[in-house]
Amino acid sequence: MAEPLLRVRDLVTTYPIRSALLRRKIGEVRAVDGVSFDIARGQTVGLVGESGSGKSTLARTVIGLEQAEAGSIEFQGTELVGLSARQMRPVRRDIQMVFQDPYTALNPRLTVRQILSEAWRIHPDLLPAQDWDEEVRRLLDVVGLDPQYADRYPHQFSGGQRQRVGIARALAVRPKLIVCDEAVSALDVSVQAQVLNLLDDLQAELGLTYLFIAHDLSVVRHISDEVIVMNRGQVVEHAPTDQLFADPQHEYTQTLLAAVPVVRPWNQESAA
Ligand SMILES: Nc1ncnc2c1ncn2[C@@H]1O[C@H](COP(=O)(O)OP(=O)(O)O)[C@@H](O)[C@H]1O
Ligand SMILES: [Mg+2]
Repeated sequence: MAEPLLRVRDLVTTYPIRSALLRRKIGEVRAVDGVSFDIARGQTVGLVGESGSGKSTLARTVIGLEQAEAGSIEFQGTELVGLSARQMRPVRRDIQMVFQDPYTALNPRLTVRQILSEAWRIHPDLLPAQDWDEEVRRLLDVVGLDPQYADRYPHQFSGGQRQRVGIARALAVRPKLIVCDEAVSALDVSVQAQVLNLLDDLQAELGLTYLFIAHDLSVVRHISDEVIVMNRGQVVEHAPTDQLFADPQHEYTQTLLAAVPVVRPWNQESAA
């Protein structure tokens, strides 16, 4: 079998609990508590679970924003746990994140052009400055925004448009893996469907791999090849999407499924 793009084994990430008065460490939260999974190239793995189940901590650990306490994260065969910030730099380019809140994820003081160019400023080898204008136009076009909007500020866009800007920013460094953490959760249902379709199209064209996080199973169903269900920091179920929906094995998954609204524009077959 081909080597997976991402291979996570027995991952543990904790947060200290500190006393109110002296900030002494008096315990810890095991936010990620022994998680293992693979993501094959070009695939989408959905990650679901109630709020507080450890999804964001898992994502933040994979991209190096939180430090793993134990376990292994192999990306393209390279162990990431234990790498220094400098050693992580090229990896941080290959793994991009799209966040939930398009209102706070984009710097309000920068134009879209500046937001998209930031990465090229930081990594000058990515793209020579004379090509930035053209690449900004191309990226906006790719995510379905009018290239004439390049000099607008984030507040001049709708929520869905802002999320497209967030996706364009992720694409600007030509990543291999995109981690979407509740990327469509704040959007209206019809706008969610448009952004999910965009992510689907981008995957088909660019061969991207996604770790797609949502608390809403109906959102994950549309886009995922496999689904991981997380509860209290642990994986309770991991199955191909169709199998998980047709025959959930665990009570926790069944409870999550029971809470799913059936009528969604992209799930019409399940409403029939
Ligand atoms: N920065 C933090 N400091 C301390 N505890 C945290 C921090 N971030 C998250 N947690 C705790 O870790 C657990 C998992 O949180 P999180 O990863 O945000 O879950 P999810 O994304 O599934 O909602 C929760 O108990 C949460 O309270
Ligand atoms: Mg979260």
